[in-house]
Amino acid sequence: MKFNNSLPYSQASENNKIAILKVFKQHLKGSSTLLEIGGGTGQHAAFFSDIFKTIHWQSTDLTSNVNLLNLRILQTNLSNLPRATALDVNQADWKLKDETDGDVKNRKFDSIFTANSLHIMSASSVENFFQGIARHLRGSGLLLVYGPFKYSGSFTSKSNALFDQWLKDKDPMSGIRDFEWVNTIAKTNRLQLIEDNAMPANNQMLVWTKFE
Ligand SMILES: C[S@@+](CC[C@H](N)C(=O)[O-])C[C@H]1O[C@@H](n2cnc3c(N)ncnc32)[C@H](O)[C@@H]1O
Repeated sequence: MKFNNSLPYSQASENNKIAILKVFKQHLKGSSTLLEIGGGTGQHAAFFSDIFKTIHWQSTDLTSNVNLLNLRILQTNLSNLPRATALDVNQADWKLKDETDGDVKNRKFDSIFTANSLHIMSASSVENFFQGIARHLRGSGLLLVYGPFKYSGSFTSKSNALFDQWLKDKDPMSGIRDFEWVNTIAKTNRLQLIEDNAMPANNQMLVWTKFE
């Protein structure tokens, strides 16, 4: 991970946050709680929670990354951005700790967001991700997923094909996911796709809503 001013830093997060903000402005009006999965450097959490001050933004990441994530989160000192907690989507129970209510297995959120994580996780982790979403998203709540996808088995750009190969060279379990496969898993977990937004640099912002 790279650092800037002693904080973990991702240039991609800087580059994509304004485009993501446009989609959030359309969809997050009715949300007062949001769960972020794979928060990474905390740049998204810090940026968006400062703009959406009425949203309680709970960021999470793997145990191995959560202390780094908290370096930036604790520096923001925003009351709607609590300390990030550890979450691996493969955990049988997502014990989503909150400073106010302790460990809560059944905690539900108005919205759930993740960026650039589905191609890092293994395919079985992606399935576990969607099962956890179904448990922790309230009825008619929103799931917003940012990242690159393939369509009908094809990459949307040559650079995404190269990126996929680079990912697989590092970890054969990772790789850019097929949109159709992801959306089938989403449907199985009571999520209806409402938008597929083309984003800069050959990424997408997929938005689902939960049906009961
Ligand atoms: C490429 S980084 C993206 C970070 C950040 N969301 C961003 O856009 O800059 C992928 C993130 O997914 C997280 N991640 C990987 N496997 C995970 C899992 N099984 N459960 C939860 N998070 C996971 C990593 O720790 C990492 O923070």
